[in-house]
Amino acid sequence: MPKDFSTMEDSNRSGNASIHDQIAALPLNRRTVIQGAGLASLLGLLQPLAGCANLGAGQPRLGFTAIPPGQTDALVVPPGYVAQVIARWGEPVGIAGNMPAFRTDGSNSAADQAVQLGMHHDGLAFFPINGSSTHGLIALNHEYTDDGLLHPDGFLPMNAAKVKKSQNAHGLSVYEVKFNGQAWEMVRPSAYARRFTMDTPFEMSGPAAGHPLLRTAADPQGRTTLGTLNNCASSATPWGTYLSGEENWMFYFGGGKDISAHHKRWGMNEKGLYGWERFDTRFDASQTPNEANRFGWVVEVDPMDPTSTPVKRTAMGRAAHEGAWVALTQDQRAVVYSGEDARFEYIYKFISSGRMQPGGAKANRHLLDEGTLYVARFDANGQGQWLPLVHGQGPLTAANGFADQGEVLIKARQASDLLGATKMDRPEWLAIDKASRWVYCTLTNNSQRGAPGKPGVDAANPRANNSMGQIIRWREAGDFDGMNFEWNHLLLAGDPANERAEAKGNVKGDILGCPDGLGFSPNGLLWIQTDAHATQMYKGEFARIGNNQMLACDTATGEVRRFLTGPTNCEITGVSFTPDGRNLFISVQHPGETPTDRSDPKQPQKYSSWPDHQPDGRPRSANVVIRKIDGGVIGT
Ligand code: FEO
Ligand code: CA
Ligand code: CA
Ligand code: CA
Repeated sequence: MPKDFSTMEDSNRSGNASIHDQIAALPLNRRTVIQGAGLASLLGLLQPLAGCANLGAGQPRLGFTAIPPGQTDALVVPPGYVAQVIARWGEPVGIAGNMPAFRTDGSNSAADQAVQLGMHHDGLAFFPINGSSTHGLIALNHEYTDDGLLHPDGFLPMNAAKVKKSQNAHGLSVYEVKFNGQAWEMVRPSAYARRFTMDTPFEMSGPAAGHPLLRTAADPQGRTTLGTLNNCASSATPWGTYLSGEENWMFYFGGGKDISAHHKRWGMNEKGLYGWERFDTRFDASQTPNEANRFGWVVEVDPMDPTSTPVKRTAMGRAAHEGAWVALTQDQRAVVYSGEDARFEYIYKFISSGRMQPGGAKANRHLLDEGTLYVARFDANGQGQWLPLVHGQGPLTAANGFADQGEVLIKARQASDLLGATKMDRPEWLAIDKASRWVYCTLTNNSQRGAPGKPGVDAANPRANNSMGQIIRWREAGDFDGMNFEWNHLLLAGDPANERAEAKGNVKGDILGCPDGLGFSPNGLLWIQTDAHATQMYKGEFARIGNNQMLACDTATGEVRRFLTGPTNCEITGVSFTPDGRNLFISVQHPGETPTDRSDPKQPQKYSSWPDHQPDGRPRSANVVIRKIDGGVIGT
């Protein structure tokens, strides 16, 4: 999502010209030209370190040459690496007999868009076919749309056909990829190719399935919902499925003048951001109040079975789910960590009752339906506790508005409020170091921390007006199912040259702001991706940080080294490696995103024409696969 939507007040959410002008932006100084001075000295600091156990004696842990901050409309990787663009927005996903070509003027129909890759690529995962590192499937989230780019005439006026095209540009894609010895290519047509849009049926499963709060006139059983919304981060499970988080679903609904306290607690406003509620009554919460309860779940997809029905797993709770990530206990129970990316919201953990069985997706299709959900409390002494979200325990009773366990899960945020969970600085991605059992989570920023009437700093969220974000980590007492943990910060992001103490950070190595994407490579390096908003780039406290980027961290030493910089006003997100660690797939999201006026379809082109740089061509989100020219392991 263009990231500070949650600061916005309700009045201008839908029809008005400027989406971004209400964003709590940093001072809009002149666009700063980043100077090379100082860079050389930074690079000089980054000599390869001595070896590490899992890479073999004498091998450097971080073996690549750091690159400077990005300041052009280009994707840059270190010397010795090659980056290849694949799977741009609007390319056919590969459904046989239905592969309409992309039209650069935005004139593809809604029906075309339903079989083309969606917009605004986000989380992704590579699924090897027969264990291969050169042939597999990519499952991919399409988080949101920029309707200024999507339609020939931009965002306004909205109409039913444009809403349908936007709905078809959301959701998920599954596509097939193969390395031909020289380059990666999409396999088209492919029996695996699939799009999930707002018309795709999803099964609701787990304790809240069928709950009265999930029933609608169109689905009186409350067990089948159409579509998935604002899918952000993702992961692959140990049993071979794809997990995707429904994040900012609330902004697609209009709550009307008499919006309920429940919907309000979730950030819904009188009007939706996109105007969908004016053309599709599902999104008018004054007419269809329970429809919104059918979003905010962790979605599970079996990418290998193109006939499988995707499932919304209610046992893991409803939230502004960034994503969900699985660890296994020694006895093979699934422990799923997730957070919700919103200011002052929470981090969750689910422990399955059952154990993972051999046999992949089919054998484990109910594993995430039964278990216990917990929310995190980070205490000032470096310890923390998981608090159970169980109906009838503590304050989670009918007297406090929770009729049953289903309602606790549907209102997980309200339940977590009552339990005294720690209000975090926008939890984004998580990454689990299975060897050391440390779990990492990016807390991307929180400009309202410490503001009048808002929560103040605490040990886990230690900076007021937190423009830069931090990465927190914890380790459970005992196995991953532990109820207590120790925690600390891997790093506080920032730039030591900043004047404001809270924006300096303590990064050892290359500076960054707003960590978001996160993931371990097979060789144990932690990869960090950033999402500073377009209103921040090159300005104020971000003057020296440059375009959004990807960095590698050696968690043993804390050293951070810049690996990739993206084109202008994009976000770098999505991180997945082939099993051999020699190919890295990422998403470049919203190149050229305008910091000002989205109603003008030409606006994004003012900032970016990536990746194809054609005159008048629309910038396009895309996947990028990165290899080492010598075929080696990425990062070494
Ligand atoms: Fe979709 Fe929290 O980023
Ligand atoms: Ca995003
Ligand atoms: Ca994100
Ligand atoms: Ca973000």
